[in-house]
Amino acid sequence: MSFVVAIDGPAGSGKGTITKLVGKKLGLINIDTGATYRCVTLEVINRGYSIKEEDKIVNLLKNIKIEFKNDNEEEKVFLNGKDVTNEIRTKEVNEMVSQVSHIPEVRKNMADFQRKIAEGKNVIMEGRDIATNVFPNADVKIYLDATPEERAKRRMKQNEEKGIVSTYEEVLENIKFRDYNDKTSSVAPLKQAEDAIYIDSSNLSIEEVTEKVIEIIKSKKD
Ligand code: DC
Repeated sequence: MSFVVAIDGPAGSGKGTITKLVGKKLGLINIDTGATYRCVTLEVINRGYSIKEEDKIVNLLKNIKIEFKNDNEEEKVFLNGKDVTNEIRTKEVNEMVSQVSHIPEVRKNMADFQRKIAEGKNVIMEGRDIATNVFPNADVKIYLDATPEERAKRRMKQNEEKGIVSTYEEVLENIKFRDYNDKTSSVAPLKQAEDAIYIDSSNLSIEEVTEKVIEIIKSKKD
């Protein structure tokens, strides 16, 4: 028996941070599904494929191995045996990832992979379509949102911490571009599941959102 908490929402809504904190506090395995699409995108870039070469992109799925490993309390992502935890967060990957993630065969392949790694475990999984597509029967469904401006500010801060140089305008534009792409995808677009609980985190601290999410999970567990 597994217990699945699904956290969906747009880029920069705080899903990653909240999922990690809640997972740690409640002993749930944290799965960042965006990282799986980022790995495919990195491989596309490394091979020099263009987004129009859909056949080649679909073909490379056969030769791709994605692993999540916990190294000294740090979640690391491996692509074909190589640690790509930082490499999957570059500007180049950011700019291409939502297009790659909209290729139907890529979505299907990644959703199957995500279900497989969660099998039989108690997980908290964050993404765009977890409650609507990957785990429509998840035990807890949360849709985490915030205004584009607030999300851009958060992404800027994250980038600064990682030493990534970017301007506010650039980040805001990328967030709006990805929102549009994610919400208009023809396959499993970003949208709130009917039975998901909506949280607007624009004016809430990380601690406040974490507490809210923990309360919701506990009330569903009881
Ligand atoms: O959460 P993130 O920014 O790392 O996600 C990267 C991209 O992957 C995002 O633009 C949309 C896509 N994605 C998706 O389509 N479905 C998911 N479950 C997770 C991410």
